[in-house]
Amino acid sequence: MAYPIPARPRTQLPGGDHAVVDALVREIEGALAGEGGLAAGLDLVAARLDQLRGRLSAHFDDEERSGLFAQVAIRLPHRRTDCERLAAEHARLLAALDRLRAVRAEARRDPAWGEGVRSFLADLGSHESLEDQVLIEVLDRTGSAGV
Ligand SMILES: [Fe+2]
Ligand SMILES: [Fe+2]
Repeated sequence: MAYPIPARPRTQLPGGDHAVVDALVREIEGALAGEGGLAAGLDLVAARLDQLRGRLSAHFDDEERSGLFAQVAIRLPHRRTDCERLAAEHARLLAALDRLRAVRAEARRDPAWGEGVRSFLADLGSHESLEDQVLIEVLDRTGSAGV
């Protein structure tokens, strides 16, 4: 599942490097869809999940260290719950990714693994989509995310 296209390019939004994360997600989606043959596709998915771990961890760190969510919550008090949810989801998403990465090569052939990857990507997409909505709103209303 691809991310919905936000009203502003994600490159214009504050936070971590979304372009690199998005590119890896699209590669994983393509490999899951069977491009390159099933076994090779699963190996590619696993390799890209490993790459995604480092990128996503750095991405989430950037968002957290910058105080982005706390600043947005001050500017948009009605979005405080969303900001708290976004901040809390980072650790959960990384834990879910680590569980998928821990599955051994033979076990990745079980369709449940591919479903787990799809479910993870959907959760990541929901996270980034809500983040985009909140950031676009704060930029449109106040002209700044405060970071
Ligand atoms: Fe985030
Ligand atoms: Fe993000």
